[in-house]
Amino acid sequence: MRTPLAALQAQVEAARGEPLSPALARTVEQLHAAAKRAAHLSRQLLTLAAVDPSVERPYTPQRADLGELLQRDLADWIARADTRRIDLGFELAAAPVQGEPELLVEAASNLLDNALTYTPQGGVVTLRTGRRDGICYVEVEDDGPGIPEAERAHVFERFHRVKGTSGPGAGLGLAIVREIAHRHGASVSLGAGSGGRGTRVSLSFPAA
Ligand SMILES: Nc1ncnc2c1ncn2[C@@H]1O[C@H](COP(=O)(O)OP(=O)(O)O)[C@@H](O)[C@H]1O
Ligand SMILES: [Mg+2]
Repeated sequence: MRTPLAALQAQVEAARGEPLSPALARTVEQLHAAAKRAAHLSRQLLTLAAVDPSVERPYTPQRADLGELLQRDLADWIARADTRRIDLGFELAAAPVQGEPELLVEAASNLLDNALTYTPQGGVVTLRTGRRDGICYVEVEDDGPGIPEAERAHVFERFHRVKGTSGPGAGLGLAIVREIAHRHGASVSLGAGSGGRGTRVSLSFPAA
């Protein structure tokens, strides 16, 4: 699934570099956006399949520090926050866990992606990792619109989006987060942020 979509994306990008009539340029831009969405969706479906508990995929945890793992992509996240004028802050303290590093990063990325997508311009988003009372956590908090209480249990279901949510998502990000947490014996909590505003999602792991 990934190879033909990568080929499609490459071809569309090549076409974008050619001189095109205004009408064709618009079509190519739409094709480009659609190819990117399709590639993203297929990646999410593959991740979901990989972490589906009904799939026998051996769990191969290693010692990893949540804070260190998330340091690596900070520049990308900052760039993305800048384009939306969001004040993105990091409070990354040591948080040693046993886990599959790629999936731990994927889970945190999905939370950050949501915070940066759904928080309006000028908002504040904070990524935290740390350890307290034998529990290591990764947490993303924003001061955006929040998730209504009646929706909080449902947003972790596959393909579920809160009514009125716009933008290209398919409702899979939090379902992936939930499966990754489950695979790691971690618990997920979702609530309002500080002062009762916005959203805070935390994953809590037994410390390694
Ligand atoms: N930080 C957030 N602030 C407001 N709404 C959110 C936030 N995170 C998730 N949501 C809501 O939960 C829904 C499900 O999120 P997710 O599973 O990541 O799917 P997607 O982002 O593709 O819609 C979103 O469509 C949105 O309605
Ligand atoms: Mg999402």
